[in-house]
Amino acid sequence: MKPAAAAALLCLLVPSACNQASNDRLASPVTIVGDAVPAPLEGRQGDAQRGQQVFTSRDSGHCLLCHQLASLDAEFQGNVGPPLTGIGDRLDAGQIRYRIIDAQTIWPDTVMPSYYRTDGLRQVGEAYKGAPALNAQEVEDLVAFLETQTD
Ligand code: HEC
Repeated sequence: MKPAAAAALLCLLVPSACNQASNDRLASPVTIVGDAVPAPLEGRQGDAQRGQQVFTSRDSGHCLLCHQLASLDAEFQGNVGPPLTGIGDRLDAGQIRYRIIDAQTIWPDTVMPSYYRTDGLRQVGEAYKGAPALNAQEVEDLVAFLETQTD
């Protein structure tokens, strides 16, 4: 059996073991419940205004490269990923958190980076290996910001 198939089987049989396997790649341990990570990373409190900065900044999240958000007055907005307008109505904080920290576990073939992983990242420069693309505070700020994006 290929390792990926073995891991998938393990997830079905022993969900806690699967959680652990996914956890090993993240910058700090999390508890995955269904398709969500309900607890804030490292217990941090997010700030929506800072989250907007992370979302738009080329130096940190740069989420606009692939996503549109109607509330932002930004010149260039990408369309590789689905629009995130109204995302706060569609997903709760825990679901948004999980999608940001480890999109590649949720959608194995996605082009969206896993922002809180420390390995298995695609297309990262050598200098960034070992460090997640976003830290716990930046992820929580993003979650707080996206939760405010309701229709
Ligand atoms: C390289 C392109 C790319 C970047 C950069 C990117 N995403 Fe994504 N994102 C995607 C794609 C593509 C999907 C859809 C998942 C799939 O099927 O691959 C997605 C899905 C999502 C979803 C789920 C949307 C839904 O309607 O279910 C959220 C939330 C999200 N992204 C947030 C973010 C945030 C926040 C950032 C910045 C930190 C970001 N994304 C950066 C490509 C990207």
